[in-house]
Amino acid sequence: SDAELDARIRAAKATLGDRAVILGHFYQRDEVIQYADFVGDSFQLANAALTKPDAEAIIFCGVHFMAETADILSTPEQAVILPNLAAGCSMADMADEDSVEECWEQLEEIFGTEPDESGRVPVIPVTYMNSSAALKAFCGRNGGIVCTSSNAKVVLEWAFERGQRVLFFPDQHLGRNTAKALGVPLEQMPMWNPRKEFGGNDEQTLMDSRVILWHGFCSVHKRFNVGQIEKARQDFPGVKVIVHPECPMEVVDAADSAGSTDFIKKAIAAATEPTTFAIGTEINMVNRLAAENPQHTIFCLDPVICPCSTMYRIHPGYLAWVLEELVQGRIVNRITVDDAVQDNAKIALERMLAAKP
Ligand code: 13P
Ligand code: SF4
Repeated sequence: SDAELDARIRAAKATLGDRAVILGHFYQRDEVIQYADFVGDSFQLANAALTKPDAEAIIFCGVHFMAETADILSTPEQAVILPNLAAGCSMADMADEDSVEECWEQLEEIFGTEPDESGRVPVIPVTYMNSSAALKAFCGRNGGIVCTSSNAKVVLEWAFERGQRVLFFPDQHLGRNTAKALGVPLEQMPMWNPRKEFGGNDEQTLMDSRVILWHGFCSVHKRFNVGQIEKARQDFPGVKVIVHPECPMEVVDAADSAGSTDFIKKAIAAATEPTTFAIGTEINMVNRLAAENPQHTIFCLDPVICPCSTMYRIHPGYLAWVLEELVQGRIVNRITVDDAVQDNAKIALERMLAAKP
């Protein structure tokens, strides 16, 4: 029963004390979040993994790529545990290393590898945090960098200083929305189709490009549309619409603002008057924001409940199991990134952590 599970988790946590730290992403269900020592967006959670070097174990209540990142950034002695190994991210799975390598080879054929007169290389690869460690390593060894939705603008600026153009993967929407906000015209953002020669683009289009987009997307954020925003504005005059930048461009354009999960949280916290907010992001987070801010009216733009099905795979039952195993001195569901991959991925992650505005 829920009460039994609750007692088991609390007892194991109390026995472990500082030996284990539990991190929870905003999209986790409340039944899990209540046990987290730290809750945040993917950037904050990557930082949190760095700040607990004394904990033997980091229990990551989130998805696989986040746990991989924590393993890369934590000390080699620390074990990162993903309570359910089936908690992946469908967007991260949309860019595999072989396809990206193949794309890279074709781009090298077209552009060569020599810098221009101002020292900028032809292409800088930028991977969204929502990607495998192998792709972060690819960026590390090819002069590239990682970004999250909270620092994508700063990271793209970093890349434009060093490169004539950017190859951005896996999320086309974050890439497009961020580049657009930086003034890049749409015709300079061709999409790469890995199944076609030159990504299905003619050479001139690629030559003129500033950002080459991968075809990935988030199945949760893809559901939001402009019609929902129009309806919210009709039903609630004065409503503030805030969406995540993984939403399609038209949705971001029609919203009042767009930003990472932490941005959304802070935007609500900053409202001093009772306000109605329509939010375009995962439902567990929206419901929690609504409960935490009873002075405001907060609802999800999508009337059909839309949890991230993989985030939802972290159930308190799994949390109880991994914690109790730890109490017994056993580490289960450990996420380990290969040493060679770690080294290069760390380079790309450290570039991101250093790329402050
Ligand atoms: P944040 O970086 O905003 O936490 O987003 C992570 C994510 O997976 C959004 O779908
Ligand atoms: Fe991946 Fe989308 Fe879930 Fe975020 S919400 S973890 S991008 S599937």
